Amino acid sequence: MAAELKLLFSQQEIAETVTKLAREISADYADKQLILIGVLKGAFVFLADLIRALTIPVEIEFIRIASYGAHKESSGEIKIKQDVEIVLEGKDVLVVEDIVDTGLSLTFLVDHLRRKNPSSLKVCALVDKRTRREIEAQVDYTGFVMDDGFIVGYGIDFNEEYRALPEIFVVS
Ligand code: IMP
Ligand code: MG
Repeated sequence: MAAELKLLFSQQEIAETVTKLAREISADYADKQLILIGVLKGAFVFLADLIRALTIPVEIEFIRIASYGAHKESSGEIKIKQDVEIVLEGKDVLVVEDIVDTGLSLTFLVDHLRRKNPSSLKVCALVDKRTRREIEAQVDYTGFVMDDGFIVGYGIDFNEEYRALPEIFVVS
């Protein structure tokens, strides 16, 4: 049976949320040289909109970690598929994630990046599924908070489908 999509966040709601996040980040890092690390692939659309809403200059990097694949649940086993290519020592770093769910991926990622000795390391997530945490994971800038449900669109996929949708939908 084909998946059914139910609209959760409209283009306008997403744009307003991205603008709000960009305003906070621009203010907090006004006198810093910020490096944004987008987590591939899910965060690429969010990152693209976020950087264009920022009023401060930033440097962009990407990191790629193993994803769910064809499953809706985190395996808990996470791997770095593509690491950042610049030195992070002494730098102000902000990780840009699509979704924080169980927190397992983010915890792994933050531990990995901390070993590179950045002078600060914070996290921005478009969607925080707080109630689903299996491990404590700090999100410093949160777009939307949601409870349960599997979402797609705006860069976020299910089995590599639906990334190009401009809105965010719940899959049922
Ligand atoms: P966590 O390790 O359980 O926190 O999962 C984090 C990652 O799983 C996110 O960055 C997403 O890439 C993916 N993920 C979690 N929830 C969803 C969802 O609802 N739709 C699509 N991907 C998801
Ligand atoms: Mg992700």
